[in-house]
Amino acid sequence: MVLLDGKKVSNDIKDEIKAEVDKMKANGEKVPHLAAVIVGDDGASLTYVGSKVRACERVGFESTMVRMKHTTSEIELLQKIKELNENDAIDGFIIQLPLPPQINTQKVLMAVDPSKDVDGFHPENFGRMALDMSTFIPATPFGILELLERYDVDTKGKHTVVIGRSHIVGRPMSILMSRRGWPGNSTVTLTHSNTKNITQIISQADIVISALGVPNFLKAEMVRDDAVIIDVGITRVEDEDAPKGYRIVGDVDFENVSKKASFITPVPGGVGPMTIAMLLKNTLLAREQRAN
Ligand code: GUN
Repeated sequence: MVLLDGKKVSNDIKDEIKAEVDKMKANGEKVPHLAAVIVGDDGASLTYVGSKVRACERVGFESTMVRMKHTTSEIELLQKIKELNENDAIDGFIIQLPLPPQINTQKVLMAVDPSKDVDGFHPENFGRMALDMSTFIPATPFGILELLERYDVDTKGKHTVVIGRSHIVGRPMSILMSRRGWPGNSTVTLTHSNTKNITQIISQADIVISALGVPNFLKAEMVRDDAVIIDVGITRVEDEDAPKGYRIVGDVDFENVSKKASFITPVPGGVGPMTIAMLLKNTLLAREQRAN
């Protein structure tokens, strides 16, 4: 079994990005600037955005965190997005999801200038991704592709089963794994809450990408010998013994599934850190595109 070490790979990527930023600085060029908008005070979202801002500091990017109260109206958020679109200092920005119920997420994501949409959530960018055109690929699926590539995982002709059809992970992942090239060229089954015989389908998978959010859903007896297991689950589970009072648990029963897998991502330290590294990569790309 080979551990797909997202913590190590994400640190390698950050070092690579930092080297690029150092070159930009030495040449007197503007460094990338990422802004993150967070509406409300959901603990998990604040933690994620905090990690994104810290990662910017580590690689030498500028960053701006925009905090808006949970009662923010859609009009107020759209106004903030307009400001960020028009602000030449900002190369890319993200709107942390989920948004409070009074705000229409689709409307908000469509208001982001596609050239600054480093999350790759705008329909224009999502469409470009589906059509094999160059674009910002959503950070979590992009991170999974990067892990498969850096560990030289064979995906051609393999049966990839994606669990979960979210717009952020499952849906784009299913498209990316079926694209021409590598990592890709897989035969993809996208499963979700209405899928019949899901355990039978999973048992036929060469590659399982689980983005369900149900702790320890995937058990050893459900997967084939030598399957590649990608665990996107990050559920907070109460734990009195943990320093923060909770720990992060994946979708996969790691202890037992890892005995059967050929490659597997741990939680934490697998896909999670990759997401942040790829957001930085998209922001660097956004800066380079604005400079040209
Ligand atoms: N919420 C959960 N994942 C993400 C992400 O990748 N980007 C944003 N903006 N919000 C999220």
